[in-house]
Amino acid sequence: MDLINKLIVGDSLNSLRKLPEGFVDCVVTSPPYWALRNYGTNPVEWPDGWIGELGLEPSFEQYITHLCDIFDEIKRTLKNSGTCWVNIGDTYGGNWMGLSNIRHLKNRCNKSLLLIPFRFALEMQNRGWKVRNVIIWQKPNCTPQSMKDRFTVDFEYLFFFVKSDKYYFEQQLEPFKESSIKRCQGGCSRNKGERYQGLSKKNYDKYQQKVLNGEVKGKNKRAVWNIPTSPFRGAHFAVYPRKLIETPIKAGCPEGGLVLDPFMGSGTTALVAEKLNRNWFGIELNPEYARMAEGRLYTAREKQNAA
Ligand SMILES: C[S@@+](CC[C@H](N)C(=O)[O-])C[C@H]1O[C@@H](n2cnc3c(N)ncnc32)[C@H](O)[C@@H]1O
Repeated sequence: MDLINKLIVGDSLNSLRKLPEGFVDCVVTSPPYWALRNYGTNPVEWPDGWIGELGLEPSFEQYITHLCDIFDEIKRTLKNSGTCWVNIGDTYGGNWMGLSNIRHLKNRCNKSLLLIPFRFALEMQNRGWKVRNVIIWQKPNCTPQSMKDRFTVDFEYLFFFVKSDKYYFEQQLEPFKESSIKRCQGGCSRNKGERYQGLSKKNYDKYQQKVLNGEVKGKNKRAVWNIPTSPFRGAHFAVYPRKLIETPIKAGCPEGGLVLDPFMGSGTTALVAEKLNRNWFGIELNPEYARMAEGRLYTAREKQNAA
């Protein structure tokens, strides 16, 4: 099956089951969150017999089981050197879009943050994934929230998982602050024997020299990423910003490698993969969203050809 730069219209679990082992370099995705919205997809039959849309299960425990069943298949298709990046948001109990099958949980969890991203990460770990980072996607333009008895939540999580100890990773740097450069110009003021950033004075002096002559171009990127949400004029409501997934693709997939998105939505992962000279392969259950993704890709390629 030729999967390069192709979008399968179908459900992730059954589509992934038909695919070979160990051919994907990097997975970048955002699944439906629990009890947040109805994507209007055809109902899927799950291994436990429940029939319905992922995210609309009557309990979050069942949602996490279904989601991790999909990630078991993803793990099988991922190379041993592969990386996996998952953006997943939380839900407050009681906030459930009137879903009648979920209302029974109201007494147990009313007003409580359900910690679904962490329940998911723990179950991923139970099933053999290694959690390398919890990245905070901080949204400087988040919509104001009206409640007065807790703080506004202005971030989501991006989990970085791998399946083995050795995996592909291209270090990403962030520029030094002006003040750090000035400190280097002033020289290291520490005494002999004292350590700074884990280095001896001698090695720290060498490091400072490398910063000043441009050999060291920045410091290791940190795990809080400040990225505005970007409005999308199409009819898909849960589009993530391109910038959020640029770093994961650059860090976690070699050029020419294959990025999989098992919840492709409007095609953001494919757009960014193509821009960064990576191949992609996607799965999306809703045919209208799949058409939207094809449309966005067509427009981006036309622009690229015209440039
Ligand atoms: C959070 S959205 C992804 C949005 C995407 N990252 C983007 O930027 O457009 C989740 C997507 O998963 C799709 N979906 C839901 N259940 C699915 C399933 N079982 N298999 C494949 N796709 C599914 C939904 O239709 C929706 O488009």
